[in-house]
Amino acid sequence: MKLDGKIAAITGAASGIGRALARRFHGEGAKALALADISEEALAEVAAEVGGLAIPCDVTKEVDIQNLIDRTEAELGPIDVFCSNAGVCNIGGEDAPDAEWQTNWQIHVMAHIYAARHLAPKMAERGGGYLVNTASAAGLLSHVNSATYSVTKHAAVGFAEWLAINYGGQGVKVSVLCPQAVRTAMTDGREQGVASLDGMMEAEDLAEHVIRAMGEESFLITPHGEVLDYIQGKTADYDRWIGGMQRLKQKYGNGI
Ligand SMILES: NC(=O)c1ccc[n+]([C@@H]2O[C@H](COP(=O)([O-])OP(=O)(O)OC[C@H]3O[C@@H](n4cnc5c(N)ncnc54)[C@H](O)[C@@H]3O)[C@@H](O)[C@H]2O)c1
Repeated sequence: MKLDGKIAAITGAASGIGRALARRFHGEGAKALALADISEEALAEVAAEVGGLAIPCDVTKEVDIQNLIDRTEAELGPIDVFCSNAGVCNIGGEDAPDAEWQTNWQIHVMAHIYAARHLAPKMAERGGGYLVNTASAAGLLSHVNSATYSVTKHAAVGFAEWLAINYGGQGVKVSVLCPQAVRTAMTDGREQGVASLDGMMEAEDLAEHVIRAMGEESFLITPHGEVLDYIQGKTADYDRWIGGMQRLKQKYGNGI
């Protein structure tokens, strides 16, 4: 799918990857953009920059996602592309408080489910649409220092696979975005950490990968080429892969 003339909605649009996607979609000639985030002030700035409609939204709340979809369709028109992109990253293990586990689950998984619930059937009925769900390379591999992130991003990949299987035949395209480190607020101060082992990608360069992959309607978007090798290594020999990840953990400890 080309973005030219399309109506797109993006969550987590106030910063980082979401903001880069907003700028790039605008540059590609998108007809209208609905930009959603919990951070209202920063969101307003991005919306003003790209002429988008700012819709304050807490993606953990189904009512907010429904409002985002309803307002966008009422004020801009039928949504062609919906990017479920908002995210957080908390460092820690199984001892993270339940509330933190729940927030990660809501943001990384339920938000994607709410968007699909209120939009995928409509897209299917209209004969097409595109859901672009931001997961992470950690959803295919792991983040050695964040259990909440690793687990919920795996679930995000699982849900995107399920959507592609169930809606692909109805003309709804699905992509899952699985980058390694990207220079955003989320990775600020983590340049030397385990996450940026293969380098820190600029958000603008990542947006270029997304545009290309959307053009090809590829399910899996891995802007860092190494990720494909890593997942092949993982599936070829799980124990060897776990051993490699244990060595990585020893080297980087509990840092970021
Ligand atoms: N930066 C990376 O290295 C990296 C790598 C892989 C995947 N990702 C994923 O990319 C996505 C974007 O992250 P980023 O790197 O641009 O980080 P970022 O912190 O720059 O942006 C995340 C945005 O999500 C918003 N957000 C957080 N909770 C929200 C909520 N409940 N409701 C609405 N908005 C909310 C924040 O306000 C922020 O604007 C996330 O899903 C993240 O997990 C990032």
